Amino acid sequence: MEIKGWLYNKRSSGAIAFLELRDGTGFVQGVAVKDSVSAEVWKNAESLTQESSLSVKGSVSKHPKKAGVYELQISDIKVVQIAQDYPITKKEHGPDFLLDNRHLWLRSKKQWAIQRVRDVVIQAIYNYFHNTGFIKIDTPIITPNACEGATTLFGIEYFDEGEVFLSQSGQLYLEAAIMSVGRGFDFGPTFRAEKSKTKRHLTEFWMMDAEAAFVEHSESMDIQEAMVKFIVKTCLEKCQEELVILERNPAPLQKLLDLPFTRLTYTEAIDKLHSLGSDIKFGEDLGNDDEGLLTQDSAVPVFIHKWPKSIKPFYMKQDPENPDLVLNDDLIGIEGAGEMIGGSQREDDYEILKAKIEAEGLKGSEYQWYLDLRKYGSVPHSGFGLGLERTVGWICGVQHIRETIPFPRLINRIRP
Ligand code: 4AD
Ligand code: MG
Repeated sequence: MEIKGWLYNKRSSGAIAFLELRDGTGFVQGVAVKDSVSAEVWKNAESLTQESSLSVKGSVSKHPKKAGVYELQISDIKVVQIAQDYPITKKEHGPDFLLDNRHLWLRSKKQWAIQRVRDVVIQAIYNYFHNTGFIKIDTPIITPNACEGATTLFGIEYFDEGEVFLSQSGQLYLEAAIMSVGRGFDFGPTFRAEKSKTKRHLTEFWMMDAEAAFVEHSESMDIQEAMVKFIVKTCLEKCQEELVILERNPAPLQKLLDLPFTRLTYTEAIDKLHSLGSDIKFGEDLGNDDEGLLTQDSAVPVFIHKWPKSIKPFYMKQDPENPDLVLNDDLIGIEGAGEMIGGSQREDDYEILKAKIEAEGLKGSEYQWYLDLRKYGSVPHSGFGLGLERTVGWICGVQHIRETIPFPRLINRIRP
């Protein structure tokens, strides 16, 4: 067989060269024996540097010691290009160096594995929704309004319009679309001028928003739970090799598939936090430490639902049992994953929603179309947004979500 690819690593004894090859789909060890190949092929083997591009011919054989591992007994090597001194070597490199060389770092085995998992997560999300009656709806990136509060908007100059913004979430547009198609999801880049420099924040990240007509608060959580389980199950089936490369113990992922996710109201969560020694006050947002405390002994992600209205966006539906609360949920992942999903039932009452838009000081004229949805056949409806990078980071077991996106954008990083 023939492999076209790159040299990942090389060891040579002088009589045998072990060439670790990668072709994009995976890694394989090639073995070139000096006495069994032509002088030219041996010379080529010797000339190869890390990341040189090449094509190799040989026959596949079982690894003499490792079960289930195959090698390539090399008969021919054609050099495409001899790489110059490659900056990323086997020695440890600091994160800044690696991020500066992200265009090359992507070729490293773990980074390769992460991008493969990311692709499987994306595929699983599409499959989950297509299997359950949602259709893909593309929402705009350039928008004149805010979805998630004005403080994290990225502004851009737009011809005669002046300042408009990069989308924080496609949700509002998706709400319009599902009044046509019933159930829809979008999937695309979203932008937040987040001042947060944490392991869980990017300024450009990918979000999947889903929205469904006639679905209320509790059913929406059922959908979120089923989706997360489907994603995890798909990754366990399709990413075994990648999870081994990432040294990710699959047991916690496997375990949650058969268990119901915990659902705590915000009020219950605050009580629980107090019993665990936190001094958080009712009405405050949960910090990283609080999320950690709430999930530390949990085998399953935890929904925190029905939050105080005062700390949540304008579009969330008021709880009919308590007008100070909204019918929303945040899904907090296990193993330090943090908030993976934010969702809610949407306010479907015209007057209440109009008053909320005004109270938040949002520019009313930009939300007229959104209010229209409450004028013409308003229905109860709910939706949620899943952060792709946080999901992939959790499944891969990586520390910082900047590794889960090919070219991360952070407050202090926009290159390469
Ligand atoms: O909770 P958020 O802000 O919810 C919304 O934007 C809703 N409009 C979604 C909806 O209901 N359709 O964001 C949703 C998810 C978060 O739970 C988190 O996983 C991720 O998006 N996220 C981020 N991921 C990386 N970097 C950031 N700066 C993020 N901000 C949110
Ligand atoms: Mg949120």
